[in-house]
Amino acid sequence: MSEPLIEIKGVKHAYQTQAGPLPVLDGLDLSVPEGGFAAVVGPSGCGKSTLTRLVAGLMKPDQGEVWLHGQLVKGPKATVGMAFQNPVLLEWRSILKNVMLPLEIVPTKLSKRQQEDRARKLLALVGLEGFEDKRPSELSGGMRQRASLCRSLVHQPEVLILDEPFGALDAFTREDLWQTMHRLKAEEPFTGVLITHDLRESIFLADEVVVLSGRPAHTQYVMDVHLKGPRDLEHLYTPESAEALNILRHQIQIAQGRAPVEEAAQ
Ligand SMILES: Nc1ncnc2c1ncn2[C@@H]1O[C@H](COP(=O)(O)OP(=O)(O)OP(=O)(O)O)[C@@H](O)[C@H]1O
Ligand SMILES: [Mg+2]
Repeated sequence: MSEPLIEIKGVKHAYQTQAGPLPVLDGLDLSVPEGGFAAVVGPSGCGKSTLTRLVAGLMKPDQGEVWLHGQLVKGPKATVGMAFQNPVLLEWRSILKNVMLPLEIVPTKLSKRQQEDRARKLLALVGLEGFEDKRPSELSGGMRQRASLCRSLVHQPEVLILDEPFGALDAFTREDLWQTMHRLKAEEPFTGVLITHDLRESIFLADEVVVLSGRPAHTQYVMDVHLKGPRDLEHLYTPESAEALNILRHQIQIAQGRAPVEEAAQ
């Protein structure tokens, strides 16, 4: 097993609000090895997006530590790529130019030509060949999300953080995107953290599913996902997937305070 590339240890954090401190995270641990892909699930409002901000270095925890590749995170990191539920693409730029945007911000050794080639290669990989010169509004929601994934990977980040990237898509488009994610991961190795509300998505994409408790969230449960063979959608209908989903569903109920804790031990 390789060394963890992302390591979160004993993180505790509260937001200061007008009504006083709001404890959001308390006892959060997460460890993702290089090349690993962790999904984080938990009740709404438990602190999942807060966790992504901490990993990206956009916020510092009150207590505990966030390490990336053996370095304590103290500020925003260019080696982290992010994608969100609503891809914010700039309407006045073409899809190609939107994808190339991080290369204008993050220092790169690539020539202009190589930058463009890289963006085009990523767009082809997600099935957007031929759409390079379109504007964002000319694309469907699923296509915009594909472009946004390309943009989050164009500068070859070590870590990709996805905060409910497929949450706003219809079920079929979402499943297409899951397969696109597998293709991207095979071609563009990264270490990933995926926040999701969709348990099927979590076991289809990740090799580890972390269930957070209700707020203030701690790491309540960690599941290793061992789906055998290449992950195609049929895997989601096997008895082993059904069992994994059942366990996770039960853990979510515990996190929501809707199931007695003793039952989970069975
Ligand atoms: N900047 C902020 N200031 C104050 N409170 C905040 C801030 N950001 C988030 N919160 C609160 O912290 C809690 C956790 O928020 P967060 O967005 O991390 O949850 P989440 O798990 O991502 O929720 P969801 O599943 O709905 O996306 C929520 O109660 C939210 O209202
Ligand atoms: Mg959130």
